[in-house]
Amino acid sequence: MTVTLVPLPYAQDGLAPYISAETLKIHHGAHHKTYVDKVVAAVAGTDLENASVEEIVKAAKEQGKKPLFNSSAQTWNHGFYWFSLSLEKSAPSAELAAAIDAAFGSYDALLDKLKAEAVDHFASGWAWLVDDGGTLKVISTHDADTAWLSGVNPLLTIDVWEHAYYIDVKNKRPEYVSNVLGNLLNWDFASENFKRGTPWVYPA
Ligand SMILES: [Fe+2]
Repeated sequence: MTVTLVPLPYAQDGLAPYISAETLKIHHGAHHKTYVDKVVAAVAGTDLENASVEEIVKAAKEQGKKPLFNSSAQTWNHGFYWFSLSLEKSAPSAELAAAIDAAFGSYDALLDKLKAEAVDHFASGWAWLVDDGGTLKVISTHDADTAWLSGVNPLLTIDVWEHAYYIDVKNKRPEYVSNVLGNLLNWDFASENFKRGTPWVYPA
C-alpha cells in the first residue's frame, strides 16, 4: 500500500473556536502532508514501498534512518492526533473511567496531570495518555518519537509542537492545552483504543 494523508475526521472548521480552520488547514494540509510526502518519496523503489506506516517506523528506527523515522513517526502521530480530538462531547467508557480512577484518583486529577505534562514538556513533542500493561500513565515524547514504540498502548495524544497552536494563541501553550483538555478530547476514541488493547493502526 502507499502511505496516504489520512483525511480529517471532521470539517476544517470542525474544532473551532478552540482550534481554528486556518490552523487545521496548515497543520493537516501542509505539516502532516509534508511528512507523508517525505515518507512516500523515501520508500519509493525500496523494500518498504508497500509497507505500512508502522512497519516503516520500526524499520527506520532499527536501521538508524533518522529522517525516515521522523517523517513516518510524525505521519502516525498526526493521524492519531486528529482522531484524539472532537468537538462532540464524550466521556470515558465505564471500564476506562474505572482505570482512570485507579491510576490517577479522579478524572480531574488526570486532566491536571495531562496539562502539566503537555505544558511543561520542553520544546517540541507529544503528551500522551497510555495504557501500560493495564495501568494508565501520562507520558510525553520528544520531537517525532511515538509512544507505541516503547510497548505501551496510546489512548490519546496532544501535539505540543508550536505549529499546533501558534496561529491561534501565539506562544501561549497553556491556553491551547486548556482548550483541548476542556473541549476537544475524544473519549469515544480513547475508549475504543483501551478496549482493543493494542495500538491504533494508521489507516491504509
Ligand atoms: Fe503537528
